[in-house]
Amino acid sequence: MRNFNETTITAAVLERVGQAAAPRARQISQALVRHLHAFVQEIEPTHAEWTSAIEFLTQTGQMCSDTRQEFILLSDTLGVSMLVDAINHRHPGNATETTVLGPFYVNAAPEHALGDDIAGGMTGEPLLVEGTVHDTAGRSISGAIVDTWHTDGDGFYDVQGPAGLAGLAGRARFRTDTEGRFWFRSIVPAFYPIPDDGPVGDMLKIQNRHPYRPAHVHFMAGHPGYETLITHVFLAGDQYLDSDVVFGVKDSLVRPLERQEPGLTTRGHRVDKSMMALRYDFVLADERQPARSSACAASRSPT
Ligand code: BEZ
Ligand code: FE
Repeated sequence: MRNFNETTITAAVLERVGQAAAPRARQISQALVRHLHAFVQEIEPTHAEWTSAIEFLTQTGQMCSDTRQEFILLSDTLGVSMLVDAINHRHPGNATETTVLGPFYVNAAPEHALGDDIAGGMTGEPLLVEGTVHDTAGRSISGAIVDTWHTDGDGFYDVQGPAGLAGLAGRARFRTDTEGRFWFRSIVPAFYPIPDDGPVGDMLKIQNRHPYRPAHVHFMAGHPGYETLITHVFLAGDQYLDSDVVFGVKDSLVRPLERQEPGLTTRGHRVDKSMMALRYDFVLADERQPARSSACAASRSPT
């Protein structure tokens, strides 16, 4: 086969990559070629434009390190991470909705006792967080692992090195009590920009987009027999709820901050001063059987 032109080359490449023995590799290779060729046919790039596209991807790779994953940021900001998440969480029923993991998760955050203050020197307004973990039938899940992480009041995660922090802060792991409850104290997080000093930030500027995520608290909740839930609770009223740079907001995940006065809370915990409170009751989906979902759950399990 030779003498290809713009009307014959796509079929030729499809036939060639169709030699892949594994059906999934064949399907993925052919879909990639079909969509990539259609993209090029549609935009008709000049050589200079195609070279700059390749330079952009090269810089994206060069920006990656142990602490920075620019390709995930690219996937997030183009909505691909949320699309993959949606495809993999077509839950019927009342399981809590999912959203992106993000790059600031730290595996094996320190386990804390229920009620602990996890601010760890972060500055901001005091916050009480109360919640529960149930299954889709409404049964409480005792001993569920609830991982949480969030920014300080200026929008910085501990791992971004804000001044004055001795180590990990604003993150912890809890175990739900016999009634499936968890609670802790920390500080109110703020909206923040995703890392935008690399090629993804350049892309956002060209697309006339801001780099902000609305204020949220991350949660990862898991227990054997259930699918590990990766989600956030967003603070109601945030100015970026409708324009989250990574398209992660869902109405069901937005909760108001409520004023909690000193004394007993509605969930039966005691606080000694006035603070804001964020409450959320999580519902875990039963673990699914197909191989694709179990491989994903195993690599993310916090237990
Ligand atoms: C985050 O929420 O931590 C996050 C998610 C996606 C990209 C950047 C940050
Ligand atoms: Fe975040």
